[in-house]
Amino acid sequence: MSDSYSRREFLGAASGLTAGVALGPGVLAARSAPAIHIRPAAMNVVVASANGLRGVQRAGELLDQGMDTLDAAIEGVKIQELDPDDMSVGYGGLPNEEGIVQLDSSCMHGPTRRAGAVASLEGIKTPSVVAKYVLLYTDHVLLVGPGAKRFALSYGFQEEDLLTDRAREAWLRWRARRGPDDNWLEVPDDEQLSREEHGTININAVNASGDVSSVTTTSGLSWKIPGRVGDSPIIGAGQYTDNDVGAAGSTGRGEACIKACGAFLTVEFMRRGMGPSDAALETMRRVVSTTEARLLDERGRPRFGLNFYAVNKKGEFGGASMFAGARYAAWDGTEAKHHDAAYLFERER
Ligand code: GLY
Repeated sequence: MSDSYSRREFLGAASGLTAGVALGPGVLAARSAPAIHIRPAAMNVVVASANGLRGVQRAGELLDQGMDTLDAAIEGVKIQELDPDDMSVGYGGLPNEEGIVQLDSSCMHGPTRRAGAVASLEGIKTPSVVAKYVLLYTDHVLLVGPGAKRFALSYGFQEEDLLTDRAREAWLRWRARRGPDDNWLEVPDDEQLSREEHGTININAVNASGDVSSVTTTSGLSWKIPGRVGDSPIIGAGQYTDNDVGAAGSTGRGEACIKACGAFLTVEFMRRGMGPSDAALETMRRVVSTTEARLLDERGRPRFGLNFYAVNKKGEFGGASMFAGARYAAWDGTEAKHHDAAYLFERER
């Protein structure tokens, strides 16, 4: 564990209010989660969304050099945040309906049980690092909008225009095709229509000592209503870490994940003994069961995509997707490669 993460003490611990301590007759301050004893991973393992192949390689190599799990995971996602060609994350991400890029990110550090997040952050290329600063330097968990930006600027983050020419082109094309009654002229049919996109990167890392961390970062739903926040900056939805169990995260339709507390639920399923892929798949079933009818097709299948990725303290990893054909990226201790995800439905839509 790095000194920076261990410097501050838990307020609860300092005041003696540890889990399960009785305050008086019949009154419990809190009840700890069920005790489990999982053998730590024998090696460093990293699992991520499919766009995280370079990220898991980078994070795995940094873990091998002894870097903290959260620092390594953030170095991994930063590759996508800083890549102008990844239009789902950070710099170059697709904007909201007004052409403004608004970024979301959250992270958790297992060893210190701390969390940080930012939402609707504008003008800063690396929201994952700002989320880590919330974790490191504040007593809060989530900062949003202009407050999150002022917080980042106070630490010397540079304000930059995040809208690349490519993303602007995609946004203008979408704006021109909104509907027949708007004030924009139609784009000719032979020009490609920009689709609504969910894109995100999630990385979960466990080291050989069994310490776990997770981070998720995104530009969110393309053409979203300004201020819309998806699952990525929500602790327990876009990512979740419990250092006793493992970590999980998600990409895809954030609204569906939020309602099922997807990352938290996946970790809870692992706590009960499920392997990572089975846990992710079980969460997917919960998502389907909590989906409103308007988002289901005639066969009861969701009309949206969603993915979960998970790793446990032992270093076992897996992923699950709503539909067949999805992959995820993993560093298994020796190499980075894509793996087929488990899935609920054979064919998409
Ligand atoms: N999962 C990313 C989002 O919905 O914003």
